[in-house]
Amino acid sequence: QTSSLIAIVLAYLVGSLSFAVIVSKAMGLNDPRSYGSGNPGATNVLRSGNKQAAIFTLLLDAFKGWLPVFIVQHWGSQWGLGATDVALVGLAAFLGHLYPVFFRFKGGKGVATAAGVLIGFGPWLGLLVLAIWLIVAFVFRYSSLAALVAAMAAPLVYMLGINGWWKVEGPVLMSIIVMSMLLLWRHRDNIRRLLAGQEGRLGSKK
Ligand code: G3P
Repeated sequence: QTSSLIAIVLAYLVGSLSFAVIVSKAMGLNDPRSYGSGNPGATNVLRSGNKQAAIFTLLLDAFKGWLPVFIVQHWGSQWGLGATDVALVGLAAFLGHLYPVFFRFKGGKGVATAAGVLIGFGPWLGLLVLAIWLIVAFVFRYSSLAALVAAMAAPLVYMLGINGWWKVEGPVLMSIIVMSMLLLWRHRDNIRRLLAGQEGRLGSKK
């Protein structure tokens, strides 16, 4: 269906806006791909020492994940879009962040964007997964570990909806599982560093 394809491509393009790079440039900071982990994401922008830039990056990267999901959820039916499209535009925005067409397909690890997509899929789902991220980050002080635990928990949290708290839909569950698996894959260097005890703590400069 043409409208599905258009929605998916648009979501991918929005996801391709790498806000770590854009915000850093706009604020006159170094390119985040040139220091720290080299990852264009909020955690690495924080290593620049500029908290405000990191917060802007986090919020905008999350916003671009949330927006397409929200639009299709609320107005999609007038273009013949349904639950499968909601799931697909979320995934497309996430893929845009990982493989951005505007940045030679070298993007980030997807944590903030996935959080935005999850909030779009369901506010409670998003908030619960975010809470898991916060607790692990607060206790262990590793951004990556918090993301890994939250990603593994996300599909399970979504499944809680079978208690009648929210509607559980197959395509959305699939989209969450694919995002979680890709997120784990993108953190493979972090996993190696965590196991070796060499991962930088949240907010530390390395
Ligand atoms: O947002 C990605 C985070 O989980 C890890 O980032 O820069 O420490 O590899 P980084």
